[in-house]
Amino acid sequence: MASLTVRQLDDTLKRRLRLRAAHNGRSVEDEVRTILRSAAADEESFAGAAARDDAARAKRETLPAATTRVLLIIGGGIAAYKSLDLIRRLQDRGAHVRCILTGAAQNFVTPLAAGALCGERAYTDLFDQASEFDVGHIRLARDTDLVVVAPATADLIAKMVGGHAGDLAAAVLLATDRPILIAPAMNPRMWAAKATRRNLAQLAADGVHVVGPNAGEMAERGEAGTGRMSEPLEIAAAAAALIHSGGVLAGRRVLVTSGPTHEPLDPVRMLANRSSGKQGHAIAAAAAAAGADVVLVSGPVNLPDPPGVGVVRVETAQEMLTAVEKALPVDAAVFAAAVADWRPQRTSQRKIKKHGPPPTIELVENPDILSTVAHRKSGRPGLVIGFAAETDHVVANAEAKLKKKGCDWILANDVSPATGIMGGDSNTIHLVSADGVESWPPQSKDEVARALIARIAAALADTKK
Ligand code: C5P
Repeated sequence: MASLTVRQLDDTLKRRLRLRAAHNGRSVEDEVRTILRSAAADEESFAGAAARDDAARAKRETLPAATTRVLLIIGGGIAAYKSLDLIRRLQDRGAHVRCILTGAAQNFVTPLAAGALCGERAYTDLFDQASEFDVGHIRLARDTDLVVVAPATADLIAKMVGGHAGDLAAAVLLATDRPILIAPAMNPRMWAAKATRRNLAQLAADGVHVVGPNAGEMAERGEAGTGRMSEPLEIAAAAAALIHSGGVLAGRRVLVTSGPTHEPLDPVRMLANRSSGKQGHAIAAAAAAAGADVVLVSGPVNLPDPPGVGVVRVETAQEMLTAVEKALPVDAAVFAAAVADWRPQRTSQRKIKKHGPPPTIELVENPDILSTVAHRKSGRPGLVIGFAAETDHVVANAEAKLKKKGCDWILANDVSPATGIMGGDSNTIHLVSADGVESWPPQSKDEVARALIARIAAALADTKK
């Protein structure tokens, strides 16, 4: 029988095949198998074999989920009651869940309740004869595919940063070599505290994934702000994204910038813009859902962190450039942030008083982050993608920008006020590259994100991981 490899196909066919595979979330080989299988299924003589193949594939596809093990560490906060529901939501996705409760957690939920939902005892003590004979803390740390900490209290987060090992939860977190996902939950002031900011930045640098927290009412009467633990469904989705090993971007690292930058004039005034960050955040979420290791460098936005994404928060363009350079190397970088072109030359440490004539504000140019990364001699990402928000001559301006910035693709969109794109939920994109211009139909920002991820996966398909 003659043998045929994908490499022998002509370029157009290969490209279409890659796009179709990326769109369906399969490898190119699997896509070819699927096409052949469905062609064969039309033939009576192949019907039996196709059915057998389908059954084998269905078995292969459900097996990983059924054997996925999640170790859930429940910290001591009022949100712990939601973690009991989280056990169910993780099980709904086929995970086998084990639970550790910290001492503080047991003030809110009982090991009995957690154990009953898990179908095995919940673990509580570092020096517990039964569990040391039975599984032991090192095995708890290793016999899992993912560790989820929910709620991750300020105290537990600080212990992780400090490498503490004085109780079972901390010891397991220190001993594990598996991915860790934390769902912080705390009072908004604790969340905003400098120590917590430092700790979160350190955990992001250590590769710990974070989901939430969300904004809303606090347990304390009359308190509201950012600090509510993400909902169990959001945490389960973030966990699923992390253990999704067969995604089209599995094994790839993707960097995304998002949101506006704020350029301070004095402690209360700044130059800003209307970017919501919705498109950049949707791209980061879609990349994570496709199995990529994602770093999102975000300016100030009013959006929850996308599930399963490492988020670095910045304010100014200069901070964004530093964070971006720190995140390299990556396979693909998408620059969706609306970076301020200029910043005030001087930032006053004190509020500028309203004496005499209005002050003159001198501006200096900010670094162009996209152009800086695209022109790197070493460590340039395989694929550098920029956005162009234009109000007129959208495509022509994007083509000029592609050359000037040295990037591989520009996603151009018309942001004149009538389109409602700025801050809205939909987007109309023209993908401009050396191959020409491709105009996409109007679609939601989530759909744009998924389409872009499929294109990135197809473009990276032949490059080394
Ligand atoms: O020049 P313009 O602002 O239209 O370019 C838009 C593209 O360049 C976007 O991808 C944006 O994220 C990026 N950019 C940047 N740094 C700047 C200005 C723009 O990365 N200082």
